[in-house]
Amino acid sequence: MTRLDFTDRVVIVTGAGRGLGRAYAELLAARGAAVVVNDLGGAVDGTPRDEDPAAEAVAAITGAGGRAVASTASVATEEGAEAIVATAISAFGRLDAVVNNAGIYSVRPWLELPASKYQDFLDVHYLGSVRVSRAAWPHLVASGQGRIVNTVSAAMLGVPDMVHYGSAKGAVYGLTRNLAVAGHAHGIRVNAIAPGAGTRMMDEAKDALPPGTAEFMKEHMPPSMVAPVAAYLAHDDCAVTGEVFNVAGGAVSRLVVGSTAGISDPGLTPETVAERLGEILAVDRVEPAELMLPTPAAGA
Ligand code: NAI
Repeated sequence: MTRLDFTDRVVIVTGAGRGLGRAYAELLAARGAAVVVNDLGGAVDGTPRDEDPAAEAVAAITGAGGRAVASTASVATEEGAEAIVATAISAFGRLDAVVNNAGIYSVRPWLELPASKYQDFLDVHYLGSVRVSRAAWPHLVASGQGRIVNTVSAAMLGVPDMVHYGSAKGAVYGLTRNLAVAGHAHGIRVNAIAPGAGTRMMDEAKDALPPGTAEFMKEHMPPSMVAPVAAYLAHDDCAVTGEVFNVAGGAVSRLVVGSTAGISDPGLTPETVAERLGEILAVDRVEPAELMLPTPAAGA
């Protein structure tokens, strides 16, 4: 098949100074994209730090002959999101794809975490993705082939001590599905990755994972093994919208949210639910949830 090339395409990757985002930015640039490498620096839990990983990533990309500019704005504020998009337009004159990858992480029992921290996690993961996507939207419409790649996590499906993080990622899942519907009429495709890679987040997750998992991931699951899926989803040829892909160490699968065949009983009682719970829950005939795409207006 023809090589998927990004010549003349401009892509923003948020949180691209290190970890997964950096691998995405490097692969996209190597394939010809002009890339805005956005990263405000900061510790894994979002605590500010005097570091400039965006500049380091840009130096590596341009040193290898690629095109990239740095942005140190935060995705977590409206001004920051607008500044990230303005950087793409002023540096490269257009915008074709956004990879919403910036993220913060911590593992804490849910009642131990102050309520304000829930806001921080929403601000970066969910509202960060909303804000950058909103600022980018007119340019993605103008592109005619706009692409958004969001980042969710297996943690949204329920894991110990990650209520703040997992539920913010769940909001990004809903955002992905609904933006896929909103973008349909404009040729904008919106998908998400649930990645697994040995980044600094795994150092943080170490004690929450089965023994040896974080070490195994650091050795065998580099971010570069997730990047090909991000590149495919950001490319003109991306053939899907509203999908989520689990990606780790070369394994790629579709994450399906679906409904079981269940039961139908017009005389439903609480006892029916109790008695037929097994049938309601049985997963032998699951239908993946479909996007409810808008129907064209009559006469259109
Ligand atoms: P990382 O910590 O290496 O990279 C995240 C980057 O985002 C950092 O460089 C950080 O400075 C940046 N960032 C944080 N807040 C920001 C903000 N407000 N504005 C701009 N940049 C900001 O982590 P990693 O592992 O590369 O994570 C990338 C994404 O993948 C995150 O969304 C994370 O939640 C998600 N993820 C990662 C998994 C893994 O196995 N590494 C598993 C599931 C999800």
